[in-house]
Amino acid sequence: MSLDKVDIVEVGPRDGLQNEAATLSLELKTTLINNLTNAGVSHIEAGSFVSARWVPQMADSSEVFTHITRQNEVVYAALTPNLKGAQAAVLAGADELAVFTAASETFNQRNINCSIDESIVRFAPVLQFASQNKLRVRAYVSCVLGCPYEGEIAPSHVREVSEKLLELGCYEVSLGDTIGVGTPGSTRRLLQALQGLSPNQLALHLHDTYGQALANTLVALDFGHRRFDASVAGLGGCPYAPGASGNVATEDLVYMLHGTGLNTGIDLDKLIHAGNVVSRQLGRKSGSKVALARSNISEECR
Ligand code: HMG
Ligand code: MG
Repeated sequence: MSLDKVDIVEVGPRDGLQNEAATLSLELKTTLINNLTNAGVSHIEAGSFVSARWVPQMADSSEVFTHITRQNEVVYAALTPNLKGAQAAVLAGADELAVFTAASETFNQRNINCSIDESIVRFAPVLQFASQNKLRVRAYVSCVLGCPYEGEIAPSHVREVSEKLLELGCYEVSLGDTIGVGTPGSTRRLLQALQGLSPNQLALHLHDTYGQALANTLVALDFGHRRFDASVAGLGGCPYAPGASGNVATEDLVYMLHGTGLNTGIDLDKLIHAGNVVSRQLGRKSGSKVALARSNISEECR
């Protein structure tokens, strides 16, 4: 892993759109993914294979996977809670799977209707199936810096759950600050508790509810982390974490990383275009400060 290179996993098409109340068209979803591909994003979580009763917005993920224009070097990943979801994702052509659990029992029950240990038992056949299909599996752990139901979460518990997922064969654990409550202080305490695990087996998935995500990213960079999830235009939230806003806007993250001398392989102007198109289609202002600043500047110059 080059220290100058940062890998970004774009989760807007899944984490971003899953929370939208109005049914979005297949065209909106595929246009978003195609525009992200054109911007040079190399890893895109394109949809999820969960119960349509639980998250109706993701019900057409199979069609999304079959309608996007793919580029060979880009990974188009799918979120899957169990073997049923994994089988549907592979049938649709997903390049990679992502399983998800939490460091909070209550959140996990609300989100996937089982305990943390039960969820890990359900993941074993997913890993086996993925391996038969030569696909890698990443894992999410939600609520690593706080839970909407249980409040503070012990970093040692996050470590315990993360280690189980890595032992199971997941190539990476993405640490989810699901409700965006983490601060540089709590992020530092968490990453200290995770020392000994390799930074390239851990990603950070920072929602920006309290506006701390970029500050927390800087802390993680200092700890040697180089993998971050983000959502274009700051889209999203989690249906089982009421009030949480989207992940850090990809445009803002890329702007900060490039300004710090780190390389992402992403074309910021094209990324802003992707975010502005979907924001316009959704009828709202972009959640990216960088995108807003750029559009104000271009309006002033007209
Ligand atoms: P359940 O009701 O306990 O499941 O749901 P079940 O096994 O009892 O099955 C009930 C029905 O669901 C059955 O259908 C199954 O076939 C069906 P029926 O016989 O009644 O017609 N079913 C499925 N259908 C489609 N796809 C599947 C699937 N599995 C079972 N994969 C389940 C358990 C996990 C399915 C449910 O709780 C669920 O779908 N939850 C979705 C949760 C979700 O998507 N949350 C948002 C994503 S997580 C997130 O945003 C956090 C993250 O971003 C990180 C962070 O920010 O921290 C990742
Ligand atoms: Mg999330």
